[in-house]
Amino acid sequence: MSPNALTFALIALLSFPGAFTAPTQNGTSSQNIILRDLARPRYFGAAMNTTFLFHDQAYTKLIQTQFSAFTPENEMKWEEIEPEPNQFVFGPADEIVKEAQTLYAKVRGHNFEWNNQLAPWVNTSLTAVELDRALQNHITTILNHYRGKLYAVDVVNELISDNTPNETFKQGIWDTKFGEDAIPKALTYARAADPHNTVKLYINEYGTEGIDSKSDALYNVVKGFLADGVPLDGIGFQCHFGLGQVPPTLQQNLRRFTDLGLDVAVTELDINIGTGNPQNATAFALQAQDYWTVVNACVNVERCVGVSVWGVSDDHSWLPNGAVLPWDKNKQPKPAFYAIADAFQGKPKPGLPTDN
Ligand SMILES: *[C@@H]1O[C@H](CO)[C@@H](O)[C@H](O)[C@H]1NC(C)=O
Ligand SMILES: *[C@@H]1O[C@H](CO)[C@@H](O)[C@H](O)[C@H]1NC(C)=O
Ligand SMILES: *[C@@H]1O[C@H](CO)[C@@H](O)[C@H](O)[C@H]1NC(C)=O
Ligand SMILES: *[C@@H]1O[C@H](CO)[C@@H](O)[C@H](O)[C@H]1NC(C)=O
Ligand SMILES: *[C@@H]1O[C@H](CO)[C@@H](O)[C@H](O)[C@H]1NC(C)=O
Repeated sequence: MSPNALTFALIALLSFPGAFTAPTQNGTSSQNIILRDLARPRYFGAAMNTTFLFHDQAYTKLIQTQFSAFTPENEMKWEEIEPEPNQFVFGPADEIVKEAQTLYAKVRGHNFEWNNQLAPWVNTSLTAVELDRALQNHITTILNHYRGKLYAVDVVNELISDNTPNETFKQGIWDTKFGEDAIPKALTYARAADPHNTVKLYINEYGTEGIDSKSDALYNVVKGFLADGVPLDGIGFQCHFGLGQVPPTLQQNLRRFTDLGLDVAVTELDINIGTGNPQNATAFALQAQDYWTVVNACVNVERCVGVSVWGVSDDHSWLPNGAVLPWDKNKQPKPAFYAIADAFQGKPKPGLPTDN
């Protein structure tokens, strides 16, 4: 190799490392695939976690290249952001919002009204009036702090019962104190704090992805809210699935909600192979097919605005031992990563390996 050729090769290697590393099954380089670009006009998002941002280099690299939306994994939950009455701790959530802005990415706030990860002072010893004031102050203060910086917020999280149709709303502090006013109250406070509708107000729910009793309950509740003029812009479908558990009615279900005039989003996608099940090539290919099915459903529904995964790589999932995400524990792309790229591009569902 002549010195010039050597120099050229070195420059090429430094400039385009992807051209020389990490070949995929079909010979292209994963570094050339940028999901945030392929997702357009939708966003491709992730739950971001400040424990790892800037502390885990490979994680941070993926955050900074692959995503166009972020949801704080925990940093805006009540116990984190208002641990004591009217004492707000914005630091960690600010870090996420700032990083998202640097990346020209959207922020999905998460969340205001939920039964879990509440601060200890938010408990049933509060009277309904006290709780009402606390909720309004919580929502108003956070929306004021992040004015102009949030794309959407999960105002309500997981308040539909798992025992539909016998029970509509999940038992807990909100239902106990406010009954059927719980959800409209939170949405109304959020809109009042953002009168120019700069933030899309969402109800985020799990177990409502397919058409069944629970999603019917959500559908009927939401339809009633819209008829009553309760402010609401979108429904988040979490999409935490076990392998092979994506409901065949997912797309049809997303569509019936958009037919009500709402946006929909896939907000917390991951596909759990399951502890005890072998993590072999077939399992990863099946996982890729499930990822494809979910992203494809969103792509086929005009008002499905984006897909977010709940984490980035398998070493930092909320699910212990979970090989659930598009990148493995070494931050290498899995078949799921390529399947997401295919689905955003309208390419067909990937096949299975002929043997393991
Ligand atoms: C329940 O809330 C009240 C009022 O905020 C507070 O004084 C009390 O300490 C809380 N209880 C627990 C167990 O944290
Ligand atoms: C609903 O109530 C009926 C009648 O009490 C009962 O048979 C059924 O099992 C209940 N369904 C659920 C999902 O709890
Ligand atoms: C590989 O994983 C799949 C999916 O869990 C399973 O059905 C199959 O039996 C596994 N094969 C081997 C050889 O373990
Ligand atoms: C980040 O994720 C890990 C693993 O799920 C969790 O233990 C930790 O609390 C998270 N960090 C924050 C700031 O939420
Ligand atoms: C290889 O796979 C990637 C991701 O699915 C795709 O974008 C690319 O077009 C494929 N290349 C060839 C040559 O098939």
